[in-house]
Amino acid sequence: MRILVTGSNRGLGLEFVRQYLGRGERVVACCRAPDRAAELKTLQKQFADRLTVLRLEVTDAKSRAAAHRRVKRLFGALDLLVNNAGIRSGARYDSPDFGELCREDILRVFEVNAVAPLLMAERFFDLLRKGTRPRVVNITSMLGSITEKDWVFRYSYCASKAALNMFSKMLALDLRDKRVAVLALHPGHVQTDLGGSDAPLVPEQSIRGMIKVIDGLRLRDSGKFLDWRGRQIAW
Ligand SMILES: NC(=O)c1ccc[n+]([C@@H]2O[C@H](COP(=O)([O-])OP(=O)(O)OC[C@H]3O[C@@H](n4cnc5c(N)ncnc54)[C@H](OP(=O)(O)O)[C@@H]3O)[C@@H](O)[C@H]2O)c1
Repeated sequence: MRILVTGSNRGLGLEFVRQYLGRGERVVACCRAPDRAAELKTLQKQFADRLTVLRLEVTDAKSRAAAHRRVKRLFGALDLLVNNAGIRSGARYDSPDFGELCREDILRVFEVNAVAPLLMAERFFDLLRKGTRPRVVNITSMLGSITEKDWVFRYSYCASKAALNMFSKMLALDLRDKRVAVLALHPGHVQTDLGGSDAPLVPEQSIRGMIKVIDGLRLRDSGKFLDWRGRQIAW
């Protein structure tokens, strides 16, 4: 498979890259600062023939276009786009609550978590169309489920993932007759900088589960909201 992963210098993105390389796939690992991506540099030495590290700021149209040009030259097609990059807060202080809500925080979190994945799918659509069993996987969160919402926590993050879920569903409908499958995939609560050290899962488990779900994804499943074990989540 020819795979692109965004936000791959740490956390879940890095583990996606590790596991896909480990089973022989060709991977474009995108991150904002390749010079500082120590783990990716180490992987590049080991998998020089199958790993390409690209600079990508997902909210920047020029950066998306430059990444698209490189992938077009490299592969000429794309089988899997993993929109993984995400933030839990866009403000200088973490998680502004009611009473201290911050317009810039809300807009930035929406831009990174919801708008950028949609625009990435649009940007890479021509390459996906030429791919084999092409798939777009949007890494969302159960916190974006409106049905499951019974406590208040991070306004901007939860609402941005609900927006990403709607974009995923609409993309799935739009791209179905073009044979591109789209999935909203929840990784579970995982030990990363974003998930915190108290999370019950480690990246290795979550990614192993998500890769299995992605492998099993068929066009008839397009538009679903699943978790890392393949269980359906209510919108
Ligand atoms: N961990 C969990 O428990 C959990 C649960 C549900 C959903 N998720 C979702 O899983 C995804 C990965 O999260 P994680 O836990 O691995 O988080 P993480 O360890 O904080 O990593 C986030 C990644 O996203 C990148 N990123 C952030 N803003 C970016 C931008 N504007 N352009 C390009 N890259 C950007 C970061 O790059 P820099 O190093 O440059 O900042 C980093 O590589 C996110 O979408 C998150 O919402 C995680």
